[in-house]
Amino acid sequence: NSTVSQGTALSDICSTETYELADINWDDLGFGLVPTDYMYVTKCSKNGKFSKGDLQRFGNIELSPSSGVLNYGQGLFEGLKAYRKQDGSILLFRPEENALRMRTGAERMCMPAPTVEQFVEAVKMTVLANKRWVPPPGKGSLYIRPLLMGSGAVLGLAPAPEYTFLIYVSPVGNYFKEGLAPINLVVENEFHRATPGGTGGIKTIGNYASVLKAQSAAKAKGYSDVLYLDSVHKKYLEEVSSCNVFVVKGTTISTPAIKGTILPGITRKSIIDVACNLGFQVEERLVSVDELLDADEVFCTGTAVVVSPVGSITYLGERVSYGKTGVGAVSQQLFSSLTSLQMGLAEDKLGWTVEL
Ligand code: COI
Repeated sequence: NSTVSQGTALSDICSTETYELADINWDDLGFGLVPTDYMYVTKCSKNGKFSKGDLQRFGNIELSPSSGVLNYGQGLFEGLKAYRKQDGSILLFRPEENALRMRTGAERMCMPAPTVEQFVEAVKMTVLANKRWVPPPGKGSLYIRPLLMGSGAVLGLAPAPEYTFLIYVSPVGNYFKEGLAPINLVVENEFHRATPGGTGGIKTIGNYASVLKAQSAAKAKGYSDVLYLDSVHKKYLEEVSSCNVFVVKGTTISTPAIKGTILPGITRKSIIDVACNLGFQVEERLVSVDELLDADEVFCTGTAVVVSPVGSITYLGERVSYGKTGVGAVSQQLFSSLTSLQMGLAEDKLGWTVEL
């Protein structure tokens, strides 16, 4: 496209633009790892700063058996997505928010963290190096997984002497096997995801290992996932294993307030703004489990799940169903508004997208 003849409309240039794609079945994407070409890696010492880093072929990494991450769980992860636009260009969604969240988590986990600029540059580099893996429009997205870990060796309990910041990517489709169909949740009564003063509010790896038992038991009974209650009163909604939760009643949308035990989701934050702009009243507060009984709709939000409608919730053996005619109107409207922005189909008045 270096020369464009007179009279060529911009739409012609865009529509004739071609891009190379990896040779996979793009209609078959779920949320599983598809190994890609490159990963980004940089390291630093305990009190150091991360060097510029470089791209390496995607593959296994070497870690000391005594590394901080393997022995004491000193690790964080992030998740964000890149979407392909019709013209072949690629859009990231609020990557600086992930960078900031990683910095907050790193502070809590006694780890050095990349600067916001370094994080965003590294994400861009990794996506561009793997651009043939960004699905065509409408077929999914490229999931970007930044990791920060104590890679140095420790034996006594202490912060590791060396840290690795790594980013890998994988093309993905829908997170839940239900696709966009409503999911069925069960309220967990025995286990809790987080406690006040703990690490529930950051994206540390241990928060995810600790929900596997309840999640596996729920899946074995046919549920899609588990909805957690607060560990003090055992009464207020917290979050699902992998996403935040919202309850709709009329034109009011409520979601559990961020208070240290709930992950401050970037999709959560974006949906709150999108919903306010659409005229809904959004409340961040304590949401009692009893409110599920007379809610009109319930939905979950997260980078991986996007906006996922909830079809039923079972609590103490009682099942409440929502949206008997399929996806609720509010969940559908919010899903469409958010994904249009993320995919570059709607004007981005808020400056949330970053084009590559
Ligand atoms: C995400 O939504 O990006 C997450 O980190 C959740 C993860 C369990 C897939």
